[in-house]
Amino acid sequence: MTLANEAANLPVPNHIAIIMDGNGRWAKKRGLPRTAGHKAGAEAFRRIANYCRTLGVRYLTVYAFSTENWKRSQEEVGGIMRLLRAYLREALRDMEKNHVRFRFFGDLTQLDSKLQKLCLDAQNRSAVFDHEVQVNFCLNYGGRDEIIRAVRAYAADVAAGKYSAEDLTESFFSEFLDSAGVPDPELVIRPSGEQRTSNFLPWQSVYSEYVFMDVLWPDFMPADLDAAIAEYHRRNRRFGGA
Ligand code: IPE
Ligand code: IPE
Ligand code: MG
Repeated sequence: MTLANEAANLPVPNHIAIIMDGNGRWAKKRGLPRTAGHKAGAEAFRRIANYCRTLGVRYLTVYAFSTENWKRSQEEVGGIMRLLRAYLREALRDMEKNHVRFRFFGDLTQLDSKLQKLCLDAQNRSAVFDHEVQVNFCLNYGGRDEIIRAVRAYAADVAAGKYSAEDLTESFFSEFLDSAGVPDPELVIRPSGEQRTSNFLPWQSVYSEYVFMDVLWPDFMPADLDAAIAEYHRRNRRFGGA
């Protein structure tokens, strides 16, 4: 039995999160500029988002640009931002056909105003598709930054007399995060061979199953997602129980 077939008979996770990594190495292997790798990575995202919709995955969270990725050259950052704008324009154009709901995790205020507007338009206009697949785009996202922004928001409410410090619980705190209302991912996939989280969803993934894969993101195929789901089903999730 192939892994693809093995996964086909298993229930899909409700929420899959992916660190879309390896674009630069994919380009380097081909003697191409890093931006060509990001273009191929955007294609892989389209492919895998479509496949997730076919499988009936409810939430797909993708790490597209981290709070640390600004360290890269202006040329590379500019190329990534151009690809994001092109993708969002296309998503807005095809919204009625695709029925994908978009959310954005991360500090959008640091993005250029055109891109911010596209994000907000995509988020607002797709809100009607609330029973379809939801793509959570992590843009200028850092897990620590998300927690700090949530703490500040909560502290401001405490200072305004809305809540007291004692009102804070784990589930209430979750409502201050970018991921408010989204269940935690069961499965986090990192392609590219790196085995670290790089500031991705630290709060939400405490009991997620991590699957690290050697494939570079631009080469990531539906069969690789099947393989990750099959691996997820081989895990024994205990959540601290016996
Ligand atoms: C992931 O691919 C895309 C972003 C971080 C924006 P990389 O660009 O990190 O690719 P590698 O890890 O250098 O191969
Ligand atoms: C994580 O990948 C961020 C994204 C995929 C968007 P990085 O390539 O930035 O992470 P490190 O530098 O290998 O930890
Ligand atoms: Mg990388």
